[in-house]
Amino acid sequence: MTAVTSDLAGTAERLIRGRRATRAFLPDPVPEATLRVVFDLAGAAPSNSNAQPWQVEVVSGTARDELAEALVAAHRAGRRTVDFPYSEDIYSPAHQRRREAAGSALYGALGIGRDAHDLRDAHDVTSLGFYGAPHVALLFAPESGDPRLTADVGMYAQTLLLAMTAHGVASCPQGLLSFYADTVRDTLGVTGGKLLLGISFGQADPAAAVNTVTVGREPLAETTRFHG
Ligand SMILES: Cc1cc2nc3c(=O)[nH]c(=O)nc-3n(C[C@H](O)[C@H](O)[C@H](O)COP(=O)(O)O)c2cc1C
Repeated sequence: MTAVTSDLAGTAERLIRGRRATRAFLPDPVPEATLRVVFDLAGAAPSNSNAQPWQVEVVSGTARDELAEALVAAHRAGRRTVDFPYSEDIYSPAHQRRREAAGSALYGALGIGRDAHDLRDAHDVTSLGFYGAPHVALLFAPESGDPRLTADVGMYAQTLLLAMTAHGVASCPQGLLSFYADTVRDTLGVTGGKLLLGISFGQADPAAAVNTVTVGREPLAETTRFHG
Protein backbone atom coordinates (compact mmCIF):
# COMPACT_ATOMS: atom_id res chain seq x y z
CA MET A 1 0.00 0.00 0.00
CA THR A 2 1.37 3.43 -0.90
CA ALA A 3 1.70 6.16 1.70
CA VAL A 4 -1.07 8.14 -0.04
CA THR A 5 -3.47 5.18 0.03
CA SER A 6 -2.92 4.43 3.71
CA ASP A 7 -3.29 8.11 4.46
CA LEU A 8 -6.65 8.19 2.66
CA ALA A 9 -7.76 5.04 4.48
CA GLY A 10 -7.21 6.71 7.83
CA THR A 11 -8.99 9.85 6.64
CA ALA A 12 -11.94 7.81 5.33
CA GLU A 13 -12.21 6.01 8.66
CA ARG A 14 -12.33 9.30 10.55
CA LEU A 15 -14.62 10.98 8.02
CA ILE A 16 -17.20 8.22 7.62
CA ARG A 17 -17.30 7.19 11.27
CA GLY A 18 -16.99 10.82 12.38
CA ARG A 19 -20.26 11.84 10.73
CA ARG A 20 -23.33 11.51 12.86
CA ALA A 21 -26.83 12.93 12.97
CA THR A 22 -26.80 16.22 14.90
CA ARG A 23 -30.09 17.32 16.45
CA ALA A 24 -29.22 20.61 18.16
CA PHE A 25 -27.45 23.45 16.38
CA LEU A 26 -26.04 26.87 17.17
CA PRO A 27 -27.65 29.71 15.18
CA ASP A 28 -24.36 30.88 13.61
CA PRO A 29 -24.48 30.62 9.80
CA VAL A 30 -21.91 28.68 7.80
CA PRO A 31 -19.69 31.09 5.79
CA GLU A 32 -20.86 31.48 2.19
CA ALA A 33 -17.47 30.30 0.86
CA THR A 34 -17.77 27.04 2.84
CA LEU A 35 -21.33 26.52 1.54
CA ARG A 36 -20.09 26.80 -2.04
CA VAL A 37 -17.15 24.42 -1.49
CA VAL A 38 -19.32 21.81 0.23
CA PHE A 39 -22.14 21.80 -2.34
CA ASP A 40 -19.66 21.83 -5.20
CA LEU A 41 -17.93 18.79 -3.68
CA ALA A 42 -21.26 16.99 -3.21
CA GLY A 43 -21.88 17.35 -6.94
CA ALA A 44 -18.97 14.93 -7.49
CA ALA A 45 -21.31 12.09 -6.40
CA PRO A 46 -21.70 9.22 -8.88
CA SER A 47 -24.99 8.64 -10.68
CA ASN A 48 -26.54 6.41 -13.35
CA SER A 49 -24.87 7.41 -16.67
CA ASN A 50 -23.68 10.56 -14.88
CA ALA A 51 -27.22 11.94 -15.22
CA GLN A 52 -26.81 13.87 -11.90
CA PRO A 53 -30.58 13.79 -11.40
CA TRP A 54 -30.69 15.85 -8.19
CA GLN A 55 -32.21 19.28 -7.70
CA VAL A 56 -31.02 20.97 -4.54
CA GLU A 57 -32.56 23.95 -2.77
CA VAL A 58 -30.33 25.49 -0.08
CA VAL A 59 -32.33 27.66 2.30
CA SER A 60 -30.88 30.21 4.78
CA GLY A 61 -31.75 33.47 6.55
CA THR A 62 -35.31 34.78 6.39
CA ALA A 63 -36.25 32.17 3.76
CA ARG A 64 -35.23 29.50 6.28
CA ASP A 65 -37.37 31.11 8.99
CA GLU A 66 -40.38 31.33 6.65
CA LEU A 67 -40.01 27.69 5.67
CA ALA A 68 -39.80 26.56 9.31
CA GLU A 69 -42.92 28.58 10.12
CA ALA A 70 -44.83 27.11 7.16
CA LEU A 71 -43.80 23.57 8.13
CA VAL A 72 -44.92 23.98 11.73
CA ALA A 73 -48.23 25.48 10.51
CA ALA A 74 -48.74 22.53 8.14
CA HIS A 75 -47.94 20.12 11.00
CA ARG A 76 -50.44 21.80 13.33
CA ALA A 77 -53.10 21.71 10.58
CA GLY A 78 -52.36 18.03 9.85
CA ARG A 79 -51.51 18.98 6.24
CA ARG A 80 -49.10 16.22 5.24
CA THR A 81 -48.31 15.49 1.59
CA VAL A 82 -45.71 12.97 0.48
CA ASP A 83 -44.18 12.51 -2.96
CA PHE A 84 -42.93 9.02 -2.04
CA PRO A 85 -45.62 6.90 -0.36
CA TYR A 86 -44.78 5.88 3.20
CA SER A 87 -46.02 3.11 5.45
CA GLU A 88 -44.50 1.33 8.44
CA ASP A 89 -44.89 -1.83 6.37
CA ILE A 90 -41.77 -0.99 4.38
CA TYR A 91 -39.73 -2.23 7.35
CA SER A 92 -38.96 -5.91 7.97
CA PRO A 93 -38.85 -7.23 11.57
CA ALA A 94 -35.04 -6.85 11.54
CA HIS A 95 -35.38 -3.24 10.36
CA GLN A 96 -37.95 -2.60 13.08
CA ARG A 97 -35.62 -3.97 15.75
CA ARG A 98 -32.84 -1.61 14.64
CA ARG A 99 -35.28 1.32 14.46
CA GLU A 100 -36.50 0.67 17.97
CA ALA A 101 -32.93 0.58 19.33
CA ALA A 102 -32.14 3.89 17.62
CA GLY A 103 -35.43 5.43 18.81
CA SER A 104 -34.76 4.36 22.42
CA ALA A 105 -31.27 5.90 22.33
CA LEU A 106 -32.63 9.16 20.92
CA TYR A 107 -35.73 9.54 23.07
CA GLY A 108 -33.76 8.32 26.10
CA ALA A 109 -31.23 11.15 25.64
CA LEU A 110 -34.13 13.60 25.30
CA GLY A 111 -35.82 12.16 28.40
CA ILE A 112 -39.00 11.46 26.42
CA GLY A 113 -40.93 8.32 27.38
CA ARG A 114 -42.70 6.05 24.88
CA ASP A 115 -46.17 7.35 25.71
CA ALA A 116 -45.28 11.01 26.23
CA HIS A 117 -47.21 12.13 23.15
CA ASP A 118 -47.01 15.85 23.97
CA LEU A 119 -43.24 15.71 24.32
CA ARG A 120 -42.92 13.70 21.11
CA ASP A 121 -45.04 16.28 19.33
CA ALA A 122 -42.83 19.07 20.73
CA HIS A 123 -39.82 17.17 19.40
CA ASP A 124 -41.43 17.01 15.94
CA VAL A 125 -41.97 20.78 16.05
CA THR A 126 -38.28 21.29 16.97
CA SER A 127 -37.37 19.03 14.14
CA LEU A 128 -39.54 21.01 11.67
CA GLY A 129 -37.54 24.04 12.84
CA PHE A 130 -34.48 22.17 11.55
CA TYR A 131 -33.32 21.52 15.13
CA GLY A 132 -32.30 25.17 15.25
CA ALA A 133 -29.92 24.87 12.28
CA PRO A 134 -29.35 28.08 10.31
CA HIS A 135 -29.59 26.22 6.98
CA VAL A 136 -31.50 23.40 5.37
CA ALA A 137 -31.00 21.73 1.99
CA LEU A 138 -34.01 20.13 0.30
CA LEU A 139 -33.14 17.31 -2.08
CA PHE A 140 -35.50 16.66 -4.97
CA ALA A 141 -35.50 13.63 -7.25
CA PRO A 142 -36.93 13.76 -10.78
CA GLU A 143 -40.68 14.06 -11.22
CA SER A 144 -40.85 10.45 -12.52
CA GLY A 145 -39.81 9.15 -9.07
CA ASP A 146 -37.86 6.45 -10.87
CA PRO A 147 -36.18 4.29 -8.18
CA ARG A 148 -32.78 4.22 -9.89
CA LEU A 149 -32.66 7.97 -10.29
CA THR A 150 -33.98 8.45 -6.78
CA ALA A 151 -31.17 6.20 -5.51
CA ASP A 152 -28.76 8.61 -7.23
CA VAL A 153 -30.15 11.37 -5.05
CA GLY A 154 -29.34 9.13 -2.05
CA MET A 155 -25.76 8.88 -3.34
CA TYR A 156 -25.69 12.66 -3.56
CA ALA A 157 -27.07 12.96 -0.03
CA GLN A 158 -24.32 10.86 1.56
CA THR A 159 -21.64 12.61 -0.48
CA LEU A 160 -23.00 15.92 0.77
CA LEU A 161 -23.05 14.72 4.40
CA LEU A 162 -19.41 13.60 4.14
CA ALA A 163 -18.36 16.84 2.43
CA MET A 164 -19.99 18.74 5.29
CA THR A 165 -18.25 16.58 7.90
CA ALA A 166 -14.89 17.19 6.20
CA HIS A 167 -15.48 20.94 6.41
CA GLY A 168 -16.59 20.92 10.06
CA VAL A 169 -20.28 21.35 9.28
CA ALA A 170 -22.70 19.25 11.35
CA SER A 171 -25.84 17.85 9.73
CA CYS A 172 -29.04 15.89 10.16
CA PRO A 173 -30.78 14.13 7.27
CA GLN A 174 -34.52 14.49 7.87
CA GLY A 175 -37.05 12.28 6.13
CA LEU A 176 -39.70 14.05 8.21
CA LEU A 177 -39.38 17.14 6.00
CA SER A 178 -40.47 15.08 2.99
CA PHE A 179 -43.87 14.58 4.63
CA TYR A 180 -44.62 18.22 3.85
CA ALA A 181 -43.61 18.20 0.19
CA ASP A 182 -46.32 20.61 -1.02
CA THR A 183 -45.55 23.08 1.77
CA VAL A 184 -41.85 23.01 0.86
CA ARG A 185 -42.61 23.47 -2.84
CA ASP A 186 -45.14 26.27 -2.29
CA THR A 187 -42.94 28.18 0.16
CA LEU A 188 -39.81 27.95 -1.99
CA GLY A 189 -41.59 28.37 -5.33
CA VAL A 190 -40.32 25.00 -6.56
CA THR A 191 -42.15 23.48 -9.50
CA GLY A 192 -41.68 19.83 -10.32
CA GLY A 193 -39.53 17.14 -8.75
CA LYS A 194 -40.22 14.81 -5.87
CA LEU A 195 -38.96 15.70 -2.40
CA LEU A 196 -36.83 12.86 -1.03
CA LEU A 197 -35.42 14.43 2.14
CA GLY A 198 -34.10 17.55 3.78
CA ILE A 199 -30.72 18.03 5.45
CA SER A 200 -30.44 20.54 8.26
CA PHE A 201 -26.93 21.77 8.80
CA GLY A 202 -24.72 24.23 10.66
CA GLN A 203 -22.61 24.17 13.79
CA ALA A 204 -23.43 21.52 16.42
CA ASP A 205 -24.44 22.75 19.87
CA PRO A 206 -21.68 21.22 22.03
CA ALA A 207 -23.78 21.57 25.20
CA ALA A 208 -26.79 19.56 23.93
CA ALA A 209 -27.18 16.07 25.42
CA VAL A 210 -29.01 14.91 22.27
CA ASN A 211 -25.79 15.37 20.32
CA THR A 212 -24.06 12.72 22.41
CA VAL A 213 -26.39 9.98 21.09
CA THR A 214 -24.56 7.31 19.16
CA VAL A 215 -26.23 4.38 17.49
CA GLY A 216 -24.38 1.21 16.56
CA ARG A 217 -24.36 -0.83 13.39
CA GLU A 218 -24.98 -4.51 12.73
CA PRO A 219 -21.94 -6.80 12.53
CA LEU A 220 -20.66 -7.13 8.96
CA ALA A 221 -21.97 -10.69 8.54
CA GLU A 222 -25.55 -9.53 9.16
CA THR A 223 -25.68 -7.50 5.97
CA THR A 224 -22.80 -8.60 3.75
CA ARG A 225 -21.75 -11.90 2.22
CA PHE A 226 -18.47 -12.45 0.45
CA HIS A 227 -18.54 -14.97 -2.41
CA GLY A 228 -15.63 -16.79 -4.03
C1 LIG B 1 -33.04 9.17 4.64
C2 LIG B 1 -32.87 9.50 6.09
C3 LIG B 1 -33.93 10.06 6.78
C4 LIG B 1 -33.79 10.42 8.12
N1 LIG B 1 -34.81 11.04 8.77
C5 LIG B 1 -34.62 11.54 10.00
C6 LIG B 1 -35.61 12.36 10.60
O1 LIG B 1 -36.68 12.64 10.03
N2 LIG B 1 -35.36 12.86 11.84
C7 LIG B 1 -34.19 12.61 12.49
O2 LIG B 1 -33.99 13.12 13.60
N3 LIG B 1 -33.23 11.81 11.95
C8 LIG B 1 -33.41 11.29 10.72
N4 LIG B 1 -32.43 10.55 10.13
C9 LIG B 1 -31.19 10.26 10.85
C10 LIG B 1 -31.12 8.79 11.25
O3 LIG B 1 -31.96 8.57 12.35
C11 LIG B 1 -29.66 8.45 11.55
O4 LIG B 1 -28.89 8.65 10.41
C12 LIG B 1 -29.51 7.02 12.04
O5 LIG B 1 -30.16 6.81 13.25
C13 LIG B 1 -28.03 6.66 12.21
O6 LIG B 1 -27.43 7.55 13.13
P1 LIG B 1 -26.16 8.39 12.71
O7 LIG B 1 -26.52 9.19 11.47
O8 LIG B 1 -25.90 9.29 13.89
O9 LIG B 1 -25.04 7.44 12.41
C14 LIG B 1 -32.56 10.16 8.79
C15 LIG B 1 -31.52 9.56 8.09
C16 LIG B 1 -31.66 9.25 6.77
C17 LIG B 1 -30.48 8.66 6.02
